[in-house]
Amino acid sequence: MEFLKNCWYMAGWSDELPAGTLLARTFLEQPVVLFRQGNGTPVALLDRCPHRVAPLSRGTLVGDTLRCVYHGLRFDASGRCVENPHGAIPAKACVPGFPLAERDGIIWIWMGEPAAADRARAPDLAHMARVPATAQSRGSMPSACHYQLIVDNVADLSHVEYLHATTLGGGAFVENRPVVSEQGTDVVIELRSRGQAAPPVYDRFLPQPGVPVDFVNRVTWSPAGLLKLDISVAPLDAPPETGLRTFNAHIVTPETRSSSHYWYWLTREYRQEDADMTQLRHALMTRVFVEEDKPIIEAQQRLLGGADLFDTQPVLLATDTGSIRIRRIMRQLLAREAAPAA
Ligand code: FES
Ligand SMILES: [Fe+2]
Repeated sequence: MEFLKNCWYMAGWSDELPAGTLLARTFLEQPVVLFRQGNGTPVALLDRCPHRVAPLSRGTLVGDTLRCVYHGLRFDASGRCVENPHGAIPAKACVPGFPLAERDGIIWIWMGEPAAADRARAPDLAHMARVPATAQSRGSMPSACHYQLIVDNVADLSHVEYLHATTLGGGAFVENRPVVSEQGTDVVIELRSRGQAAPPVYDRFLPQPGVPVDFVNRVTWSPAGLLKLDISVAPLDAPPETGLRTFNAHIVTPETRSSSHYWYWLTREYRQEDADMTQLRHALMTRVFVEEDKPIIEAQQRLLGGADLFDTQPVLLATDTGSIRIRRIMRQLLAREAAPAA
């Protein structure tokens, strides 16, 4: 499947881009250099000098401009050449830029048509950003696979009972069928279990482990690589909002066709002052992602080679409904993007 371009993708955490630094990253097969202007506004330009294709990220910042390390052309934040030490500025000397939006501690990048970028529609994760530092943690797990395999992995949590049998599994994810719905271009995959013990990763933190609870695990996917998780463990018949609530996000951005940027963010609405618990949960989840998910997803990629999973005519199970809907929406968005403008 092609990459959707007209879409906000995570470029990195805000604090990965301190003032005065240059950050080189590849998104959707395009090399990009990021830096901040003096007033803090982040900037993204194609990391490729229009003179002899040197990476601009090897250059130096001069105020709000970037000087190429090779022959000294200097570009402003809009990508326009503002200095040529060797003569007049050639009309062609400019570098394409990419719109950015910064909110909730994340820098989002728009790799498509700049005029179509609407900053107001960059993903909103304010409900997580306002959680105290003692109740949130973040990590990254760059993965050698197409980003869609990571989306599939989170969209189908039935794997929890097998791949994570000894770490997260507990029955809820196979004994109950998720209900899949669409909200605009989002896909919501909601699993509810009633009167069962909570999955171990939540149960161990309950005041009374082992008691039957109502468990809700809602995954909301937004194009192309944002997966928001809203998990609640509540006393029987209590509204989910009153339960122990966890908000997590898994965010993937294609790097190349066979590699992805993968960030995860874990927050909690209960025992927010308990930094030790945050550390414990972070260590457990990181171990699960790095030692259990990552190896299997990367192995899938090696077996697929350049093929899309769905090109292999895979056997489909009831638990694949979420990924199937996601891929259908992706196909529609890609077709819309490919259509000539009306
Ligand atoms: S390659 Fe950048 S100035 Fe020559
Ligand atoms: Fe997993």
